Amino acid sequence: MDAEALEREGLAAAAAAISADAVEAVRIEFLGRKSAIKQALRDVRDRETGMTLNAVRERLETAIDERESVLARAELDARLTQERVDVTLPVGGQTRGSLHLITQIRREVEDIFLGLGYRVVDGREVETTRYNFDGLNFPAGHPARSPLATLFIDEETVLRTETSPSQIRTMEMQQPPVYMVSLGRTYRRDTPDATHSPIFHQVEGLVVDEGITLADLTGTLDLLFKKLFGEQRRSEFRTHYFPFTEPSIEAYVSCHICDGDGCPVCRHSGWIEVGGAGMVDPRLFEFVGYDPERYSGFAFGWGLERIAMLRHEFPDLRELWRNDLRFSRQF
Ligand code: PHE
Repeated sequence: MDAEALEREGLAAAAAAISADAVEAVRIEFLGRKSAIKQALRDVRDRETGMTLNAVRERLETAIDERESVLARAELDARLTQERVDVTLPVGGQTRGSLHLITQIRREVEDIFLGLGYRVVDGREVETTRYNFDGLNFPAGHPARSPLATLFIDEETVLRTETSPSQIRTMEMQQPPVYMVSLGRTYRRDTPDATHSPIFHQVEGLVVDEGITLADLTGTLDLLFKKLFGEQRRSEFRTHYFPFTEPSIEAYVSCHICDGDGCPVCRHSGWIEVGGAGMVDPRLFEFVGYDPERYSGFAFGWGLERIAMLRHEFPDLRELWRNDLRFSRQF
């Protein structure tokens, strides 16, 4: 074989390669397992030919390596020029984040009540049974005290099942008049479905003053309804039972999906329950040391997820926590 001719040919081919793939092809052709030079090296019989061939192989290898790095550098240069950012160009289509819908509603509700002169109070997500049950007049053996309904941390500690413990904490801390709301996360051992979630949010309201009546409660709820849902949606109060209010009522809003005709979302009733309310049971006043003869009050507790669903007319509250941007971006 003509080693000189082979070298010339190989060097020319390397120089002519204009892409990484082409260089690789040259490498395989001239230095690969089946290349002429490898073949010749395998058959070599004398030392001198061996040295000549090895020298050719080395020079070809160097030339191909060099060509490869030249091309890589050229490619990087091209990309750097091409992809250069012109900071003087106007920006377009920048996406901005926004607050989660529940956070928006939470702030909106806080603003409504701050506007009415209420205080916003922080509660505790990890509560003692004293505040979650005893102070709220839950009798021994009440189903909510069961670990089937409530998430216990130990015998005396639970993840709060409602924001109502904030009522007791607030009253223990201050004397009337009380005008407060407290918003946050609550936990129950519920199986998730379209209208239930083991973690959800509530807004608690508590008013204690002289001469507070049921009319103050329904008037306040009516105002909140109108601010949150507009005038068009019908609301209804039904008698109910809570251990900490007497009388107790439950508030319903006409179903946003079927407008009252009945559908799976409202369980064919035409109405969606938004939350409970009532006049503060005098036993709570005794628990915190308020004079039940002098003071009366009302309280309410609403689900923020329900408010979100009713406002924005989506049928499944699980959407709120799926983090699908196609959903979240709408708000
Ligand atoms: N805590 C009750 C619930 O979670 C709601 C409620 C609050 C009812 C305040 C009456 C008064 O269902």
